[in-house]
Amino acid sequence: MYSVINVESYDCIVGLDALNNARSYLKSYIKSKAIVITDENVYKYHYKTMDILLDDLEIEHEFYVISPGESSKCFSEYEKIMEYMSLRYHRDDTVIAFGGGVVGDLAGFVAATFMRGVDLIQIPTTLLSMVDSSVGSKTGIDLKTGKNLVGCFKDPALCIIDPLLLKTLDDYVFEDGFGEVIKYAVCFDKELFELIKSNRFTKHKNLSEVVEICVTIKKNIVLQDKLENDVRKMLNYGHTIAHAIEKLSDYTVMHGHAVAYGINCMAKKYNEDYSDVLEVLKMYNLDKIYDYPIDELYDVSLRDKKNTKDEVVLIISEKVGECSILKLNKNDYRKILGDIHENIHR
Ligand code: GLY
Repeated sequence: MYSVINVESYDCIVGLDALNNARSYLKSYIKSKAIVITDENVYKYHYKTMDILLDDLEIEHEFYVISPGESSKCFSEYEKIMEYMSLRYHRDDTVIAFGGGVVGDLAGFVAATFMRGVDLIQIPTTLLSMVDSSVGSKTGIDLKTGKNLVGCFKDPALCIIDPLLLKTLDDYVFEDGFGEVIKYAVCFDKELFELIKSNRFTKHKNLSEVVEICVTIKKNIVLQDKLENDVRKMLNYGHTIAHAIEKLSDYTVMHGHAVAYGINCMAKKYNEDYSDVLEVLKMYNLDKIYDYPIDELYDVSLRDKKNTKDEVVLIISEKVGECSILKLNKNDYRKILGDIHENIHR
């Protein structure tokens, strides 16, 4: 059983065991050879499943395995893959991004730029990449100065989302995905909020419904504003603070955990349902408070991609299920960030 969610030019197949059940899709989208870009963790747990599947489908393939973690989303790793592919792959070959957000972003950027673009199939393996990064066509790598500062939009040909793959995640990585799930719930969907508040979802429960709801919310936003000129900015609720925390922690705090902290900060200042938001954050071990100096937070967060030279963009949710965009000049932003910082450490 699986659902097909169409996002512009491509389908997202969502469901337990979708990888097996939707195997005919995979076959129909791969014209020639495939390079499966993955990381050591995913390779360890899921290499066999993918290898057998591609053999069964008679798809010529090999695995390209990177180190796990944000440090792989860099120019040198990108360059290594491109040099490797340039000796072995052609324009009719396909990149399969088989992993979490780092693999999806890096492999997506490789697919977007190798020989000016080859086909890409996203097969996310973490909850965060299932509900967020594999959908919406963002790809990229980091610079030393900040996250995702180089990249482009690249539609995948297909995205297969199989929550069965979540069972092997360690708890910290699984909970990371709930940072983004809670974002969708707080900003856009009170029913989703009630669903995750009344059930404590674990990696052993069926996450298909939660994933499907999040992907549908994201699809509806991406269809309105793929290039993030307007409403797509709302998907960045809590992210201004989150990206700064990730950077200041040298990426030891994972994205979803940092987003959860950003949500906590923003909700404590602005959301009338803050006690409910905090309860949900606690349920998923996402209520940790991080303490970095306000001046460093300010400097790093100014480099967020959403900002322009004169304006800082913050997403505000005043009650669960709703959000809006607030544009501030730098002085006002510094003052508000100071209030938020003081408020969360009180
Ligand atoms: N992660 C936010 C977005 O895709 O727009």
